[in-house]
Amino acid sequence: MTAGRARVGILISGAGSNMEALIAAATAKDCPYEVACVISNRPDAAGLARAKALGVPALAIDHKPFGPDREAHERALDAALRRHGCDHVALAGYMRLLTPFLVEAWAGRMLNIHPSLLPLYPGLDTHRRAIEAGDAEAGCSVHLVTAGVDEGPVLAQARVPILAGDTPESLAARVLAEEHRLYPRALSERVRAGD
Ligand code: GRF
Repeated sequence: MTAGRARVGILISGAGSNMEALIAAATAKDCPYEVACVISNRPDAAGLARAKALGVPALAIDHKPFGPDREAHERALDAALRRHGCDHVALAGYMRLLTPFLVEAWAGRMLNIHPSLLPLYPGLDTHRRAIEAGDAEAGCSVHLVTAGVDEGPVLAQARVPILAGDTPESLAARVLAEEHRLYPRALSERVRAGD
């Protein structure tokens, strides 16, 4: 933990393999960010235990008690991010649609990783859609979060071939390996650009 590094809060809902890649990259001496906290909207997310095992403060803020009041849940997230001194937010498999409240609160400082070559295939089921379209390649994108789902400016992309016989699962695994390389790099570049 070097003084002066950007402090990143990571939001997850599940396995957290991208979260783990972001945490691993932050152990490098020249990494411009440190991971201040990991927050999951699902108390049973496997990523929470992984984060704790890696020595990162990790907490659940369950969306369920907030019922339909999505903004109230986000206000709780926002308060926790600020309590941990975060100056950037990385969405890493965070499976909730955001309201304008959180998007505006972190405008320009909230990133997401999406498993397609945006603007192709925003939303879910990206790998099946790419295979069914007969695309020769697929990939992943890191983008700034704006009001539209998966619509913000793309900061970086990585490409992989789609091979004969690929299933959504085999393609997802190939893309995920690239996500783990791309996200730490794109986040570091973004943080450095804000210096
Ligand atoms: C990744 O494919 C990411 O691109 C998408 O959700 C998945 C999360 O996987 N947004 P993990 O939780 O990081 O393992």
